[in-house]
Amino acid sequence: MDRLRTCIVGIGFVGAAHIEALRRLGNVEICAVCTRENAQQTADAYGVMRGYEDFRQMLDEEKPDVVHICTPNDSHYEIAMYAMQRGIAVVCEKPLSRTLEEARALAHYAKTHNIVTAVNFNCRFYPQILEAKSLVESGALGNIRTISGGYLQDWLFQETDYSWRLEPEVSGESRAFADIGSHWIDIAETVTGLRATEVFADFETFLPSRKKPLKPVASFSGVALKQEDYQEIPITTEDYCTALFRFENGAIGNCTVSQMHAGRKNQIQLSLSGSKSSLFWDSDNSNELWLGYREQFNQTAIKDPTLLSPLARTAIAYPGGHVEGYPDTFKQAFRAMYGAIAAKDTSKHVFADFSDGYRKMAIVDAVVKSAKSGGWVKIEEA
Ligand SMILES: NC(=O)c1ccc[n+]([C@@H]2O[C@H](COP(=O)([O-])OP(=O)(O)OC[C@H]3O[C@@H](n4cnc5c(N)ncnc54)[C@H](O)[C@@H]3O)[C@@H](O)[C@H]2O)c1
Repeated sequence: MDRLRTCIVGIGFVGAAHIEALRRLGNVEICAVCTRENAQQTADAYGVMRGYEDFRQMLDEEKPDVVHICTPNDSHYEIAMYAMQRGIAVVCEKPLSRTLEEARALAHYAKTHNIVTAVNFNCRFYPQILEAKSLVESGALGNIRTISGGYLQDWLFQETDYSWRLEPEVSGESRAFADIGSHWIDIAETVTGLRATEVFADFETFLPSRKKPLKPVASFSGVALKQEDYQEIPITTEDYCTALFRFENGAIGNCTVSQMHAGRKNQIQLSLSGSKSSLFWDSDNSNELWLGYREQFNQTAIKDPTLLSPLARTAIAYPGGHVEGYPDTFKQAFRAMYGAIAAKDTSKHVFADFSDGYRKMAIVDAVVKSAKSGGWVKIEEA
């Protein structure tokens, strides 16, 4: 087993999840982390040898095989480009970048320089999502007619809930769709093997202003502040998005995305109907996949490596009845990505690469244009 040296930039919510998942692989040495401040303290807290406050210095001194980019969206482009120019493989968090132009340039550079890249669309690695993909590929659903569902969260429900994601100059022009809707369209396209060709989207911002904390708070940390610790700021990105899609085979899609749906903590759902049967998956019950029929009993496929397809088995580490969930998708995604990185294999894999990241940004861009124009918008071929 090849041992690979890795550096991580940005240790907030997701950077910590990357550290944990990488350690579960067994063949990755996390040699350094980069944070904007208190770098060595952060490195010590995670049991990593060295901490840097400048990602360039870290990459130049450490010369890692891989860098993970776990910073807010506005820095993905410059870190990914700097790493690729030094021949370093890149695992970047989604969305790939803040703008479509940045994503296009990153995908182009990776392709023309043969760099192994990955974008952490981790939801692809739920075993029941891969089982659904396998069922669609086998023809069990027939021709796909409808693709629906959505992604709901409530962590931005209150006016005091705040994050860099609310600032378009950091996050991008779309918030809810780019942040979580991108996961939904990613699994919709991955499972069906179909590409969305056009979109009609509607945005709503329920809270036109919010109270921004005057001191930094990590995402999802639930830290409580006092009234005087806040500043009122206007909000211009969407809390909510509904989007209709047309797919290349004529299938119709629709999704509802919200970061203000009380009680829905982090729920992604996918429902497909085809000319032979249907299926439904819900991340709140992620080890089950519902299969629907007109002429026989419906079924529930539970996560059990002895019963599922070879494709789903690639993302299962535990026997049936031993629940695998969100952190396991990171481990399985990284396992697949590191296999390709060790083999220097830039061919298509189940994980998303920079060309897929670019495609998702093209969809985000079309969603924003549609919400602004109030009409159908074609999705750029990416
Ligand atoms: N795949 C998933 O399930 C998932 C989940 C959460 C977040 N994400 C993505 O991960 C990224 C980070 O999100 P988060 O929730 O962890 O944010 P966060 O705010 O919790 O953490 C980001 C960290 O990056 C640090 N940082 C910012 N700029 C930096 C720089 N130039 N150099 C070094 N450190 C820097 C910040 O100080 C902070 O500690 C985003 O792109 C987000 O969309 C993906």
